[in-house]
Amino acid sequence: MATAKEVFEKVNGCVEAIRKVTDFKPKVALTLGSGLGNYASQIDIKCEIPYSEIPGFPVSTVPGHDGRFIFGYVGETPVVCMKGRVHYYEGYDISDVVLPTRVMRMLGAEILFLTNASGGINYSFNPGDFMLLTDHVSVFAPNPLIGPNVDEFGTRFPDMSNVYDKDLMKIVKDTAIEDKIYLHEGVYAQLTGPSFESPAEIRMLRTLGVDAVGMSTVVEAIVGNHMGMRICAISCISNLAAGMGDPLSHEDVQKAADKSGKLFEKLVTDCIKKF
Ligand code: HPA
Repeated sequence: MATAKEVFEKVNGCVEAIRKVTDFKPKVALTLGSGLGNYASQIDIKCEIPYSEIPGFPVSTVPGHDGRFIFGYVGETPVVCMKGRVHYYEGYDISDVVLPTRVMRMLGAEILFLTNASGGINYSFNPGDFMLLTDHVSVFAPNPLIGPNVDEFGTRFPDMSNVYDKDLMKIVKDTAIEDKIYLHEGVYAQLTGPSFESPAEIRMLRTLGVDAVGMSTVVEAIVGNHMGMRICAISCISNLAAGMGDPLSHEDVQKAADKSGKLFEKLVTDCIKKF
């Protein structure tokens, strides 16, 4: 297990490598999930850095997950955007999965805006709908804070009562109304994947009060919260969860998420302009 000093120095090394290329100071850190692959077109781009040019930075192996940081403006708001993220199921140590979030915080980002695609568990959800995360279930994924605490990042036992910021939630909800986009609210659970859930697991999650399930986001929210970021997260319901509809495939999930992409882009852009 890495020491606290090693974890900190790896993150700091990435920050130093980025600072050799750009002094851009973002306010918002945006992580793009499936469906937002073309989001770069919404950004007045000032600088792009492929992850592969940052020593030690985890690079995704999943088809369709391009990897680069994009620095620029959405409206007047300075943003660092992660095009592509790595997932725990790719075999990375969980501290590497959350490293990019920590790097963005150390670059100055105060707000963490997480997006993803997920399977809808709540019976009132349909593919193509959006859900604002009001809370999460993290217990099926490894906790990224396990190991020595990095005091520079935050406290040993962080409070999790208000991970998703109420003021940001209000902005997202108001923006969805203005844009005439229907927005569900609910609880998201992160499982490790890469296999999709079994129907029995989906029934279990529903019993636990989970509305949507995916393979990302919660570990990033945990480290963002640890580092004092204000967080909001929106999920695109790309499919009905296992046992509720057709059998699942990555390609179908990707296609369905892409179909909602334009609307998702609009919602995210109009929110960021107000952040
Ligand atoms: N399960 C897990 N992850 C997902 C799903 C799902 O049904 N859809 C998109 N990501």
